[in-house]
Formats: sequence, structure tokens, C-alpha cells
Amino acid sequence: MYIANQNFARLPESYLFSEVARKIKEYKAASPHVDVIRMDIGDVSLPLPACVVEAMVKAAQEMGRSATFHGYGPEQGYPFLREAVAEYDYRARGIDCIEADDIFISDGAKSDLANLGDIFGQNLRPAVVTPAYPVYIDSNVLSGRGGTLQNGRWSGITYLPATPQHDFAPSLPAEGVSADVIYLCYPNNPTGAVITMERLRQWVEYARSHGALIIFDSAYEAYISTPGIPHSIYEVEGADEVAIEVRSFSKTAGFTGVRCGYTVVPRRLKFTFVDGTAANLNRMWSRRQCTKFNGVGYVVQRAAEALYTPEGREAIRENVGYYMRNAAMLRTTLLATGAEVSGGLDAPYVWFRPAEEGDSWTLFERMLHRHSISSTPGVGFGREGEGWLRLTGFNTEQLTIQACDRLRQP
Ligand code: MLT
Repeated sequence: MYIANQNFARLPESYLFSEVARKIKEYKAASPHVDVIRMDIGDVSLPLPACVVEAMVKAAQEMGRSATFHGYGPEQGYPFLREAVAEYDYRARGIDCIEADDIFISDGAKSDLANLGDIFGQNLRPAVVTPAYPVYIDSNVLSGRGGTLQNGRWSGITYLPATPQHDFAPSLPAEGVSADVIYLCYPNNPTGAVITMERLRQWVEYARSHGALIIFDSAYEAYISTPGIPHSIYEVEGADEVAIEVRSFSKTAGFTGVRCGYTVVPRRLKFTFVDGTAANLNRMWSRRQCTKFNGVGYVVQRAAEALYTPEGREAIRENVGYYMRNAAMLRTTLLATGAEVSGGLDAPYVWFRPAEEGDSWTLFERMLHRHSISSTPGVGFGREGEGWLRLTGFNTEQLTIQACDRLRQP
């Protein structure tokens, strides 16, 4: 019986980071004496902040007593966490248009970025700034919007290349080019580039005048230190009518293994169904979550809530500072080796083209075999990434120092 989703056959066999992990495992099996320093997937190394652990223990104890036990929670997230997000991530930063009802707590940015496709029309055209986090394209391919793959390009996707010549800032789609749902990620994964307020305004203006929706992935906003760089798309007036924002606690608070993030689907978004009648994306996303998701566990949501206490916010500042010192170290070291380097200033990723050139997978193998450092091959983020590699600042300081020593060796 032809029951299998044909779109799976169209995708490359393995997900980028799984392929990288497989190659590292193979290498380690063949060279068991070598210590590989992991700088590929953006997985954090610092433990959970003490206030988070305390909140988890307290919540777990509540779960162990019948008077305070929690069963199914609201699919959209507990009000205490939705309120904390609205208060501290938006209102306290001068953004008044976002309220608790616009916020949906989830098990992380990756799932939401992939699942949002459920509330979009089948025949729309996604537009992706490349190089890009692979989930944007892969998830659209799985839901049938990819078309066919030729030369590293899906026929159903509009590509908005971000090149080093333009500081990795893509141009707006040219007139006549379709871009219905536009994926923007800033600070950018993988290039580490940031977007200026003026440029972000132009994107919002574009979306408003062309009936497009922006999905703004701001999972790395806490890493911005340059004043004036926007942390949220809702800093731009009118963005709440055209943009969804996706965030994560993974990279700021060590939640890669805990799993918690949130997505903002404002009630003011203005879109229609194909027959022209008004659609309420906020209600649709809520409906989607009710059908397919039972919400994030109570213990995890209490853990995330603790990040909004003074201790929690201080812990995030410390974590971010720690990883950014690592990223800066990598950036300086790579520059000294003659590599062309982006990122590592307002983002935990360092994106570079080594002086000794090659295609990305050759560079990946060379880095692994010569320096015992694992990286992510740039081409895994799209054709524009060919010849580039990505390293992360998320390992420990000690191992980052060691990695820099290795990188200085010929
Ligand atoms: C990355 O390395 O790009 C991210 O860690 C992947 C992710 O967040 O899923």
C-alpha cells in the first residue's frame, strides 16, 4: 500500500546535525585515543542555574502531594509563565502590543518553527534567507511545499541569499518574486549576523504592503550586546499585524535538555483564508496545539518561570557572558589564522571560511582529523554556505581555550 509520505523520499536522508553526529561517532570509533572537542551543534555546557533547579525540585514535590498535584495543564501554557514572558520579555522592554494571550509555551523553538506550517495554506510560497537553520526548509518540504530539488534548490521555496559581500544581509524579494511566509532569524544562525532596526523596519513594511507573514526566529536575542540592535520584531510598530516570533530558553539558560520555549502569535495578525474571509491565526494556533499537543510539563514551566526572577535574570546574563567570551576567543583566533570570519560578536556562532579553502564537508573532515574539533559544515545550511564552517561558543571555557590552541597549529 502506498501509505508513506512521499515528501520524506524527497528530503536528504539525514538531518544535518544527525549526519554530523554520525560522522563524529565514526571518527571516534576509529580513533578512540583522540579527544574530540565538540563545537558542532549549539548544545550548551553550563549546568542549570541554581534558582531553576530549586524551582524544579519544589514543583516536583508539589506533584508528589495530592493537594498540589497537576495533571493536564493548559495546552497554551500556564498563565504564570505566559504572564512572566509578556511582562519581562515584552512590556519591560517597552513593547506594549504583546500580552499573555498572544504567547504559547512550547517544548522549544525547533518544534514550533516546524509545526507552524500547519496553520498556513498549502499552496503558499515560503521564503528563506540562506544560509539557514535547516528546519525552515525541511519542514516545508515534509508538508509538501518544497516542490522538486535541483542543484541544492527546492522549486517551491524562494531563496533570499545572504552573502559576505553584503554583511550577510539579504535583499528584500524583488518585485514579482513570491514570498508569502518569510523566515528571518536574528541574531542569525548560522552566520552570527545581526539586523539593524532600519532594515527590520523595511522587512515589516514589505510584509505589510505585500500581504506576507514574517516568522521571526529570535532564539539568540539574549546574545545581542551592541546597542540599538532590535531584540524583538515587535520593536517595529505594526509588526504585530504581520509577524510571529519564536524564542527559546535553550541557549540562555541551559534548557537544551529540559525543553521549553515560546511562540508569539499576536491576536492582531491580519490574514485571510484562501476564500478571502478573515482568519484568526492566534485562535488557529491554539486550536492546533489543543489537537496535537498537551502542553509543557508543570515542573518545566515552573523552571522557566524562575528565569524571570532577579536570580534567574542574573544567571542568564552570566551564561551569555561566558559563552560570548568563548565566541570572541574563537573569532580572534580564526581571524589570526587568516580565515574570513563573521559572527561571534552579538551571536554565539562563529561562521568562517578558512584560509586553506575547500568544500564544507572536506573542511569539516580536515578540522576533525587535523585538530580533533567538530564543526558544522556550512553547506548544511544551504548552497550559500559552501566553503564555510560554523563553530559555537557553547563549549566550556577550558575546552574553547584548548580548541583555540589547536586551531593555531598548522
Ligand atoms: C544549532 O546548532 O543550529 C542549534 O543548536 C540547533 C537547534 O537549536 O536545534
